[in-house]
Amino acid sequence: MRRPSLVAATCVAAVLATTVSGCGVLGIGEEPADIQVYSARHYDLEEAFADFTEETGITVEFLYGDDAELLERLKAEGGESPADVFMTVDAGMLANAADRGVLAPVDSPELEQAVPADLRDPRGRWYGLAMRARTVVYNPDAVDPSEFDTSDTYGGLTDPKWRGRLCMRDTTEAYTQSLIASLIDLHGREKTLDMVEGWVANDVDVMSNDVLELEAIDAGTCDVGITNHYYLARELEENPDLDVDLFWASQDGAGTHTNVSGAGVVESSDSPKKAQRLLEWLATDGQSDFVDGNHEYPVNPAVEPDPFLERWGGFERMPIDAEAYGNLYGDAVDLLDEAGYK
Ligand SMILES: [Fe+2]
Repeated sequence: MRRPSLVAATCVAAVLATTVSGCGVLGIGEEPADIQVYSARHYDLEEAFADFTEETGITVEFLYGDDAELLERLKAEGGESPADVFMTVDAGMLANAADRGVLAPVDSPELEQAVPADLRDPRGRWYGLAMRARTVVYNPDAVDPSEFDTSDTYGGLTDPKWRGRLCMRDTTEAYTQSLIASLIDLHGREKTLDMVEGWVANDVDVMSNDVLELEAIDAGTCDVGITNHYYLARELEENPDLDVDLFWASQDGAGTHTNVSGAGVVESSDSPKKAQRLLEWLATDGQSDFVDGNHEYPVNPAVEPDPFLERWGGFERMPIDAEAYGNLYGDAVDLLDEAGYK
């Protein structure tokens, strides 16, 4: 039984112009692993996969990269692709991969039971495996959470009382695009454009990563932001005195925006059963291993969340429409541009 090689794990900067073996994963004369995973998910995967290998005897190797680049690569490699599993961090990207024909339908009662219906493809071409929330964070010295609009918390940030106090993410980030796409899907374009224009009118400070937002809120440079929940968990783990709290957005309305990391079996895989076994394991026995390392939420309702997340209690999430998100990313970028969000 062989663990995923360290070489594979350190091949993080994925040399996208080369083949997997060209990336230094395989030594001369070394057997390739049973399953090759093309992954856009960069967080602490190795331990979970080592446990999978331990339990099943199936070995795994990775090629890491940006999701759009990996999808292009799968498309270009076609039937010759060494990939067995495609893993990525966005529902819209999973839907797009399925639409582009690179993922094979998987019929698995185990996965159907473990993964709620809106977190997987109706045809089984991809399954959500970890869930993240994109919600409102704030400095408790500057904000009383009763000041937030509980029915539409994202839209409520257009109130003039937040002027000069907001920081958010840039338009190039998939997290921003999927949030805006989900709000277009939910409220329509006009209302969403009004909302973003309201943020801009409030002089929103647009930042290039979620951690910068959290640092700015902690420092009091801004009072309120929108980030993925696990960045705050990570920061709090390092610094329990961080002056940032989390507010579950829109709990009296549509619920908090969520997205999934997920995976599908590649159409041209020569080990589809082993690849399917990996997906099943990640959604069940390996679910805690897979999600806790990044403080994400399990998709499987039978699995308890990471104890670190208990402080924030449960929340209602906005249902996910992966197909709509995938189709609306272009519209989301246009809308942000039209609103002058930059
Ligand atoms: Fe992230």
